[in-house]
Amino acid sequence: MAYRWTNDLTAADVTPKSAFLNRRQLIAGTAGLGALFAAGGASAQEELEPNSFEEITTYNNFYEFGTGKTDPADNAGEMVIDPWTVTVDGLVDNPGDYALADLLDGLTTEERIYRFRCVEAWSMVIPWNGVELADILDKVGVQDTARFVRFETAVQPENMPGVRRGVIDFPYVEGLRLDEARHPLTLMATGLYGEPMPKQNGAPMRLVVPWKYGFKSIKSIVRITLTEEQPVNTWQEINAREYGFYANVNPNVDHPRWSQSTERRIGGGLFSSRQDTLLFNGYEEEVGELYADMDLSVEY
Ligand code: MTE
Repeated sequence: MAYRWTNDLTAADVTPKSAFLNRRQLIAGTAGLGALFAAGGASAQEELEPNSFEEITTYNNFYEFGTGKTDPADNAGEMVIDPWTVTVDGLVDNPGDYALADLLDGLTTEERIYRFRCVEAWSMVIPWNGVELADILDKVGVQDTARFVRFETAVQPENMPGVRRGVIDFPYVEGLRLDEARHPLTLMATGLYGEPMPKQNGAPMRLVVPWKYGFKSIKSIVRITLTEEQPVNTWQEINAREYGFYANVNPNVDHPRWSQSTERRIGGGLFSSRQDTLLFNGYEEEVGELYADMDLSVEY
């Protein structure tokens, strides 16, 4: 059974089996989505051995806490995550300030084991827990004119040394096209390894878009806005030549300062060789269609 479906690689099997099966039946029954589970990334499934909890929680990017890889683990402890309010605004039927529990109430939490590929050319495999972003969007009621979703991270200067030092402009902002946001692979993650999301990984709720470079997976979200205009994301704002809006993992489109054709798997050991980067991070069968009409070297 293991390795057949993305979701069968349960590290802790935190999702009650009944909810899990219902959910899958629900998805399988939805027109056009059969491929998502039928394909299951078979080509690269063998590699999907999750990184350790230790690796996932001590090698991080979270500039609000500093730019070093261990800064988030060292400094995120002070972040206040309870209570947590998420403002939902823009082109939605039910705007408002939602307590996190209310926003998630009634939605199905699943485990998803995904490859995670940073634009810096390192990668991990992470067993997330979360809800599909599409379910949150359905709950708040997206209006017909909406075309994009914009996200913002919390700013707590007193608890965030990177914010105090102004290492970049905050709040950290990200965005997705609405069809990307609604794609069943797009997860609002609230935990990993069956534990509540560690602060350094973006507690209490962060985005995970597994076919895009990690910077799209914005952490500690406090605002979700439905817009007509394409949002400007933080890294595009900092350097639009190096970081685009789409940021789809692509071994054939190099970063201006380094190759994206291979990646270093974290935890692979000092002498382990690099592995080939996969188009759309291995999720081409599931998401390739979203970009059928685009030149990925222009819209990077
Ligand atoms: N979200 C916020 N708010 N601030 C950040 O600095 N870094 C991004 C992304 N989300 C970042 C963020 C980058 S570059 C990566 S690779 C991932 O978070 C890292 O996620 P991880 O630390 O859970 O592996």
